[in-house]
Amino acid sequence: MTFADIEAALPERAIISIEAPFPRIASGKVREIFELGDALLLVATDRLSAFDVILLDGIPGKGILLTQMSLWWFARTSGIIANHLLADQEAEFDRRGITDRDLRLRSMVVHRLRPLPIECVVRGYLAGSGWTSYAKSGSVCGITLPAGLRQAERLPEPIFTPTTKAAQGSHDEPIDDARASATVGSTLYSKVKAASLALYRFGHDRAREAGMILADTKFEFGTDSGGGLVLIDEVLTPDSSRYWPSDSYEPGRSPPSYDKQFVRDHLLSLSWDQRPPGPRLPREVVNKTREKYLAALRGLTARPEPTA
Ligand SMILES: Nc1ncnc2c1ncn2[C@@H]1O[C@H](COP(=O)(O)OP(=O)(O)OP(=O)(O)O)[C@@H](O)[C@H]1O
Ligand SMILES: [Mg+2]
Repeated sequence: MTFADIEAALPERAIISIEAPFPRIASGKVREIFELGDALLLVATDRLSAFDVILLDGIPGKGILLTQMSLWWFARTSGIIANHLLADQEAEFDRRGITDRDLRLRSMVVHRLRPLPIECVVRGYLAGSGWTSYAKSGSVCGITLPAGLRQAERLPEPIFTPTTKAAQGSHDEPIDDARASATVGSTLYSKVKAASLALYRFGHDRAREAGMILADTKFEFGTDSGGGLVLIDEVLTPDSSRYWPSDSYEPGRSPPSYDKQFVRDHLLSLSWDQRPPGPRLPREVVNKTREKYLAALRGLTARPEPTA
């Protein structure tokens, strides 16, 4: 499918709740998870969460953009690490009677795996909480960095800064190498760390060809019944990553981004205590946010691919 096909299929109104004729086993902040026998149907809604609160207003088509972007990256990273997708998505939808076009575009049929209890964050630039921590202490998640780095500056090497995976309603906490390793086991931990760094480097290089900087990102992994490591959830989307346009990048100041920073900035300008329910979003904030998600997918897909 081309970018134009995807853009043409986006709904006018945000789709916040999803019905499907399968048992619902969980509802995340963004995704609904249905059981399909031994597989799962992972459906991205148009819900938007900020500061871990699900906002009342969604972004029309955001779930489709997230799913299509994840599929784009899964297809290109399968040589680095196995992922949770069943081999032929269209055939899986057909076989299971999933005919609705909107639902197909926002869904993935995935292997049901055991999610590891850590979030695998990789940072290549000093942004967000990484910059806040460095400015205070010269280190990020226990990793000491060279002195004199500026906000948004590229790090000498990408760093792996895992966090706990908090239950709904609470925030993920950074953990150091030793604790993360003890949480998942040292053999698995070194694989997770190596895969995360390899995925980040690949994503960074491909994003750069598309005129974007991948500043940082978060991966989730699961294990299969044989203990094999598998990339799950979403991958390298604007919800899980911080992307900046390359052309306005300048170390020393916070770049505009393709992620929901735009919404966060709007929310920070209000006197909201960051407890549910969140404030309603003005139409221009919804439209601008939608344009950011579209621009990120357009940047990646609307150009010829390098041939291997
Ligand atoms: N293949 C898989 N097998 C089992 N669980 C999975 C698989 N892929 C993703 N998941 C889980 O499904 C959920 C996806 O829902 P969603 O992204 O809305 O989660 P969330 O963690 O509540 O939100 P957020 O991403 O904003 O932190 C996550 O808990 C993720 O760990
Ligand atoms: Mg998630």
